Amino acid sequence: ASAQSSRRPRVIVVGSGIAGLVAALGLVDVADVVVVTKGAVDDGSTRYAQGGIAAAVMPGDSVSSHVADTLAAGAGLCDPEAVRVLCTEGPARIRDLIEWGVAFDRAGGNAGGGTEGAFDAGLEGAHSRRRILHAGGDATGLAVETALVRAVRASAARVLEHTMLVDLLLAGGGADADAGSDAGSGAGAGPVVGVRVLRAGRFEELHADAVVLATGGAGQLYPFTTNPAVATGDGAAAALRAGARLADLEFVQFHPTALAVPGSPLVSEAVRGDGAVLRNVHGSRFLVHAHPLAELAPRDVVARAIATEMLATGAPVLLDATGVDDLEARFPTVTAACRAAGFDWTREPVPVAPAAHYWMGGVATDLDGRTSLPGLFAVGEVACTGVHGANRLASNSLLEGLVFAHRAAAALRSELHAPNGMSTPSGPSMVPDARPTTGSHEPTRAELQGLMWRHAGLLRTADGLLEAQRTLGSWSIDTSRTTDVERLETGNLLQLARVVVSAAIAREESRGAHARADFPLISPDSAARPRTSTDAVVRP
Ligand code: FAD
Ligand code: SIN
Repeated sequence: ASAQSSRRPRVIVVGSGIAGLVAALGLVDVADVVVVTKGAVDDGSTRYAQGGIAAAVMPGDSVSSHVADTLAAGAGLCDPEAVRVLCTEGPARIRDLIEWGVAFDRAGGNAGGGTEGAFDAGLEGAHSRRRILHAGGDATGLAVETALVRAVRASAARVLEHTMLVDLLLAGGGADADAGSDAGSGAGAGPVVGVRVLRAGRFEELHADAVVLATGGAGQLYPFTTNPAVATGDGAAAALRAGARLADLEFVQFHPTALAVPGSPLVSEAVRGDGAVLRNVHGSRFLVHAHPLAELAPRDVVARAIATEMLATGAPVLLDATGVDDLEARFPTVTAACRAAGFDWTREPVPVAPAAHYWMGGVATDLDGRTSLPGLFAVGEVACTGVHGANRLASNSLLEGLVFAHRAAAALRSELHAPNGMSTPSGPSMVPDARPTTGSHEPTRAELQGLMWRHAGLLRTADGLLEAQRTLGSWSIDTSRTTDVERLETGNLLQLARVVVSAAIAREESRGAHARADFPLISPDSAARPRTSTDAVVRP
C-alpha cells in the first residue's frame, strides 16, 4: 500500500509528552494518527517540568544571545545549525503553545489565565539573561501537558494508553540485525513499517506508513533520578535493536539539586536564578570557588562541585532559599515537595544532591527528525538532534521537543503526500532479534542502577568504566517471551547501559556532562574528535 492510494496514510506516534503530542497535532489533519503510550496519557517527564521553556521573546533578548548561551553550555559539541534552528523557531512555537491554551505567567500576575502583558521570565544556569517562560510558578510542564492533551483529545487522533512499544517492525528481510549482540548492524536496516506493542498482556503488531518515536529519556538507568518511572529508554533501545544510529551516548546530565530524600524530587534551577545559594555542611558557599557564575554556572559544573563536596564532607549540601522573595508563591511545586519531606524551606536550608535528569544522547536525527532508518522519525528527549552537545542548557529541552516535533510533522506531511510518497512495502514484517542473552547472571533493576551510579555517573574513570563494561557483559536478561513490563524495561536499560559505558570509555577527555578523573581536561584536539555513535566510535 502506498500513500499515493486514496486511503489516508497512517502514522504511529510513540509517546505522549510534549514531543509526541506536538507531532500528533501536526499530522492529524493529513493522516490517521495513533498515539501509543505506555502509561496514562500524561505520564512522562513533560508534566513534571518546573523551570520552564527558554526562548528569545523578552524585550532586549535576541536569537543570537540564546544561540551563544546554548553553544557555550554544550562545550563545543553542539551542531550549530541545529542550535540556530532551535533558537530561531522557538518564539513561533511558543506562540503555538499559547494558542493551545498555555497561560505563561505574566509580570504582575495573570489570574484568569491572561494572555496580555510582559512575560515574567525566570533565570537559570548559564543563561546570560532572564528568558525562561514559566506557568503556574514552577508547574510549567503540567500546564503544557494539560493543554496538549486537551488539544489531542479534541482532535481525530486516537490515543492508546497502557500500550508499550516493545520493538519496531522492519520490512521483512530488510534488516540485518545480529542476534546475540546489543545492536543491529545498521547495514541495510529498515524501512520501519510499524510497531510491536504489549497491550493488556498480549502482543500486537500495528502497521503504519511512518513511526514517530517520542518515548523520552532513560533516567531510570540510575538509582537517583528526577525522571518518572516510565523513563526507561524503551524507544532508544528499540531503535538500537532495529539498527538505527544513536549518538552522543556518554552524555547524561545530572541535575545539581534534587531534594536528598527518596524519589529525588526536583528543586528547580530557577530557585537559584532568584537568589538561592548552595552551602556546604559548614555553611560556606563552595561554588564561588568553582566558577565565576557560582550557583548559576552550567549545570554540569554545579553538579560536579556538589558531588565533590559531598565526597569530601560525607554529607549532602544545603540549598538556602530563605532569602528568596515570595518563595512559596513563585515555587508552589517545590514548596509542596519540601513540605511532604518534612522541610519548611522558607525558614531553613534543605539538603540537596545531584540526580540523573536528562540524556543528551539518543537516536540521531537530521533537522527534520529523520533517523537513519527510512520510515522512522525521532523527536524530543529520545532524539539526538545535536542541539545540546555535551551539556544541555537549562529549559532547552521542552523547546527542543516543541520545535523539532513541529518540523518532523511538517517533513512527514510533505513526504506522505509527495508523488513518490513514503510507501509501506508489502510482505511480512520482522522484529529485530538482538537482545542481550549472552551473559550468565540476570541483574535486578537495582543492581544495574547501582553499577551505573558507581561507574558511569558524575565522575568517571577508565578503571570504573571497564569494570562496568565487564560486569554488564556478564549479565543478560532474556526478554524474548516475557509479557512482564518491568522485565522488558530492565532489558532495555541493560542494552542502553552497555552503549553509554562503551561511549564513555571511548571519550578520553572531560567535556560537559562527561567527566573523567583520568582525563580531567577537554582534549586539545577536540575539534577533530568525532561524536560517539553506534556506527562509528562505539561498537558494543
Ligand atoms: P516525555 O515527556 O518523557 O514523554 C515520553 C512519553 O513516552 C511518555 O508518554 C511515556 O509514557 C512514553 N513512553 C515511554 N516508553 C514507552 C514505550 N515503551 N511505549 C509507549 N510509550 C512509551 N526541560 C525543560 O526544558 N524545562 C524544564 O523546566 C524541565 N524541568 C524538568 C523537570 C523534571 C522533574 C524532569 C524529569 C525533566 C525536566 N525537563 C525540563 C526535561 C523535560 O521535561 C523532558 O526532557 C521533556 O519533557 C521530554 O519530553 P518528551 O516528549 O521527549 O518525553
Ligand atoms: C529546572 O527547573 O531546574 C529544570 C529545568 C530543565 O531541566 O531544563
